[in-house]
Amino acid sequence: MQLDKLREYLSSVFGADVEVRYFGELGKRGIKPAKPRAKLKGFGYGVPYEIRFVVRRELKSVILETMRPGGFGHEHFSDRAGILLWQHSAFSRLPRHVKAVDVGAFTKDEGMKSLGDCEEFFVITQRVKGRPYFLDLDGVMERRQLAKQDRERCLVLSKYLVEIHSVKGDDAGLYIRRIRDLVGHGECIMGLCDSYPGGLEYISDNGLCKIERSCVDWRWRLKRKTHRVKQVHGDYHPWNILFRRGTGFSVIDRSRGEWGEAADDVSAMTINYLFYSLRTYGELRGPFEELFNLFWENYLNETGDQEILEVIQPFYAWRGLVVASPIWYPNLSLDVRVKLLNFVRNVLETERFSLGEINSYIKS
Ligand SMILES: Nc1ncnc2c1ncn2[C@@H]1O[C@H](COP(=O)(O)OP(=O)(O)OP(=O)(O)O)[C@@H](O)[C@H]1O
Ligand SMILES: [Mg+2]
Repeated sequence: MQLDKLREYLSSVFGADVEVRYFGELGKRGIKPAKPRAKLKGFGYGVPYEIRFVVRRELKSVILETMRPGGFGHEHFSDRAGILLWQHSAFSRLPRHVKAVDVGAFTKDEGMKSLGDCEEFFVITQRVKGRPYFLDLDGVMERRQLAKQDRERCLVLSKYLVEIHSVKGDDAGLYIRRIRDLVGHGECIMGLCDSYPGGLEYISDNGLCKIERSCVDWRWRLKRKTHRVKQVHGDYHPWNILFRRGTGFSVIDRSRGEWGEAADDVSAMTINYLFYSLRTYGELRGPFEELFNLFWENYLNETGDQEILEVIQPFYAWRGLVVASPIWYPNLSLDVRVKLLNFVRNVLETERFSLGEINSYIKS
């Protein structure tokens, strides 16, 4: 960190020229910076620093805090950003609590940027041309047969996962984080279970609790498989894929971490072939059975990853809870919802997922 960047930042926050008088780790001997471009050596994350400075002829003293990358849900830089943004928004509201002065970020050019007046964040992405893939599946449901392009597109989607999953990760902690999020994250299993209202005729709170418990057991089984950490998309479903002419496509909406479990992506796509088939035939059959098998067989042949059949179960449980959700899909028939929740329960009871057993998994 550079002194002149710090001075620039403080001046922008206090709206007047600032002179930095002292900078140092709290409780340790710090420095009285002489030269403007002095580097504040040994600056480290996760330790509090005191800064004394003069502004409008008043001497002020503040504490600069950052977070150390690491475990406990602080793996991603966005985790740490989220916690610090929250601290800034909540500290000053509690009686006797230290007041928050500002929240900010260190920039790539070693500058410091204030974010204290931010209310909500947004992301800007390029506009990609294309038609969401779910429209293809709507077409198959209507025609009840496959066109040549349906098979070709199914194959390129399977091959895409073979390609991205071929990049192995090296941080076991990120795999364990991903498996923990699968069970406890608001967008994942526990969040989905909480989104199911009470008093439903097709699943009770007790039924949801049983699913969660089984997923906790799976979590302890999967945590030992950190060798499987790979590059993933994280939300690989037909609404996040835009096809252009033929087999050209783009993906959007990557989610919940760059590194994780390949089964996350395979389950996110293939659950939809089952979902569409249940809405069309009440079972996995015909064109959707062909797409399901085409996708899976290509993936297993090209990756040789047979172990995925022993880890995909809780991911299928999550995706099953999404498509059976009365919130996400309010207009499903009772029959389809019951079969999807049977699928969730039965795959969790299955040591090794069998591609040939899908229609027995949907039975009660
Ligand atoms: N960069 C983009 N270019 C073209 N279309 C886009 C782009 N981003 C989003 N869309 C369109 O907007 C729709 C919703 O966007 P997005 O997937 O980001 O929302 P979402 O609410 O996160 O959905 P979900 O989490 O269910 O995937 C997409 O399905 C896609 O059709
Ligand atoms: Mg999306």
